Amino acid sequence: MRILVLGGTVFLGRHVVEAALARGHDLTLFNRGQSAPGLFPGVEEVHGDRATDLGKLAGRSWDAVIDTSGYLPRVVRASARAMSGSTGHYTFISTVSVYRALREPGMDESAPLAALDDPTSEDVQANYGPLKALCEAEVEAALPGRSLILRPGLIVGPWDPSDRFSYWPWRLARGGDGLAPGRPGRQVQVIDARDLAAWNLDLVERGATGTFNATGPARVLTMEAMLRGCAEGTGSGARFVWAGDEFLIKRKVAPWMGLPLWLPETDVDSRGLLAVSVDRALAAGLRFRPLGETARDTLAWLRTRPQGHQWKAGISAQREAELLAELGSSPP
Ligand SMILES: NC(=O)c1ccc[n+]([C@@H]2O[C@H](COP(=O)([O-])OP(=O)(O)OC[C@H]3O[C@@H](n4cnc5c(N)ncnc54)[C@H](OP(=O)(O)O)[C@@H]3O)[C@@H](O)[C@H]2O)c1
Repeated sequence: MRILVLGGTVFLGRHVVEAALARGHDLTLFNRGQSAPGLFPGVEEVHGDRATDLGKLAGRSWDAVIDTSGYLPRVVRASARAMSGSTGHYTFISTVSVYRALREPGMDESAPLAALDDPTSEDVQANYGPLKALCEAEVEAALPGRSLILRPGLIVGPWDPSDRFSYWPWRLARGGDGLAPGRPGRQVQVIDARDLAAWNLDLVERGATGTFNATGPARVLTMEAMLRGCAEGTGSGARFVWAGDEFLIKRKVAPWMGLPLWLPETDVDSRGLLAVSVDRALAAGLRFRPLGETARDTLAWLRTRPQGHQWKAGISAQREAELLAELGSSPP
């Protein structure tokens, strides 16, 4: 198939491109050429800003478009409209953050979507979910019956620039006592970018349309099982020292970013964030590699990064040691 990827050079898009090339598809990438120009030798890259330079794609056609880089409704409207006469199928990568409230586990795709308080806002930091919901609507309006909306949870694996999940394989590979957050039985969800990319392509190849939550795994994964999977995947003998919500909150450890995937259960609005229903995706063929493989490959990739990388997520070894000491554990 001839596939246009809007983006394609950082994380999820990069895996989509790699997988599509491995399947023999003919790719065009449209991006600004800032993040990783020339990443895929031999693959056509059209350089431009999607907010202003879509004209560079005029007069061309593709069997499918995969949009991994849309955040603003105005910008996504422009690409979806521009592509409506140029493609038979448009994937928009959205997010589970589109839901109005994620208070209950098991929310499915029919749950109400978040709305902007200020309809003029383009503040992606503050309004990521509501803006993505509006982007979805733009795609559906421009390509009715030809759009595929995927709503991933936390995407993880090699090339993740956010450092969130990556903290765990990195930390656990160091061994010793590891500070484990919250309640061991608390559900968490992640999806390996490579599994998401492969499934996205399966759906594109089948011409599938509709809206799907896209996270995993298929069965409930607890925080403890996630950490154990990371430890096993990285060959680590780390032991877990559990710190409850109250302990961590009192010591100002940041939920989600300080100890990734940890959300205090007192935060009622996020109780369902890591427990959405993936029944629809499973029925449509979404499959997952073992978490240990994701952890192992993530660690291998992390080890290729330059020394002195400034982590965007996780706590320092020193801070962890201080907290462990309070819990009566010796540092690793
Ligand atoms: N990470 C998560 O856990 C998570 C969870 C749920 C949903 N999501 C969604 O998943 C997607 C992941 O994105 P990704 O960053 O991994 O995708 P990606 O396609 O690998 O990287 C982003 C691409 O967009 C291009 N780009 C950025 N701004 C652009 C612009 N103004 N005009 C043209 N191209 C532009 C970048 O290249 P240049 O910089 O060279 O332009 C780059 O190629 C996002 O839609 C996000 O909302 C992520």
